[in-house]
Amino acid sequence: MSSFRITRTLPENATDAALRADVLAGLTGAPKTLPPKWFYDARGSDLFDEITRLPEYYPTRAEREILIARAEEIAQLVEARTLIELGSGSSEKTGHLLDALAGLRVYVPVDVSGSALARAGETLAAERPGLDVHALIADFTAGLALPRTPGPRLVAFLGGTVGNLLPDERSAFLRSVREALAPGDALLLGTDLVKDERTLIRAYDDETGVTAAFNKNVLTVINRELGADFEPAAFGHVARWDPRHEWIEMRLRALTAQTVKIPALGTVVDFAAGEEMRTEVSSKFRRESVAAELSAAGWETTGWWTDSAERFALSLSVAG
Ligand code: SAH
Ligand code: AVI
Repeated sequence: MSSFRITRTLPENATDAALRADVLAGLTGAPKTLPPKWFYDARGSDLFDEITRLPEYYPTRAEREILIARAEEIAQLVEARTLIELGSGSSEKTGHLLDALAGLRVYVPVDVSGSALARAGETLAAERPGLDVHALIADFTAGLALPRTPGPRLVAFLGGTVGNLLPDERSAFLRSVREALAPGDALLLGTDLVKDERTLIRAYDDETGVTAAFNKNVLTVINRELGADFEPAAFGHVARWDPRHEWIEMRLRALTAQTVKIPALGTVVDFAAGEEMRTEVSSKFRRESVAAELSAAGWETTGWWTDSAERFALSLSVAG
């Protein structure tokens, strides 16, 4: 018998308070910024799924190639009875791990997007009799309150989403995941790799404008949740490669000077013509830096696999 349940670890008003705090801090700072986790309402999650199917967006296909080739090997190394997936989204690639992990009893997808969790969780529970699917609506940067489930536990963090955290956030996050687990538990981490600038820019500025719509969706989220009057058409999508930090930066550029009202915050925000607001960083990694960051957070890296074109890597680390 399979089962599916969905738990919210934070009350609705905590999400609301977090959005208010992020928007207030981000839009009153200089330069203006917004954290990428607010892209993912139901429409944002659908747009991201559309991005994963774009010819220009290689990371999903590259990571899937690795999982198809290596899931059995990973399963033999970990023999997990619980799989916890952070930022699980559609859980589409996860199927390769679920197929390979013969002794798996519980799957815990964790995401801020309730719509993505509901859709993925119901499908998985229906398709996989015997699997207990316990979805958590939670912010993985806000401390992980994981359910009691049988070990060994494998945490999967796929897609390269770790690259959307800033370096300080990333080290705190990797440490917090380590602290939530027991010695011998493992972390399977997807990281996009440094490559030529043209390939990177195309992946974040696609021809059909899906990534632009995804980027602007954060304005629609703020309009709906905080009663703001952002005009998405008054902003342009920008994707830039920053060679110093080795990350792609997505920004929204005000096409004209404008003033935006945010009634829920009792404030107005002025944009100068051409002013750019950062909405996401997407860090690209090298093997040595991934292993060093994991080691500093208490992980010992024991496996490293790339796709055939060496665009993307999966690493396996064990909690020391
Ligand atoms: N793992 C999937 C989805 C990646 S998209 C894949 O590889 O295709 C990033 C996912 O992380 C989205 O579903 C988004 O809702 C979720 N996410 C982003 N920031 C988050 C946070 N702080 N806490 C929990 N989930 C988050
Ligand atoms: C979820 N994350 C890994 C994506 C990325 O590539 O950084 C989000 C994204 N942003 C624009 N396109 C995709």
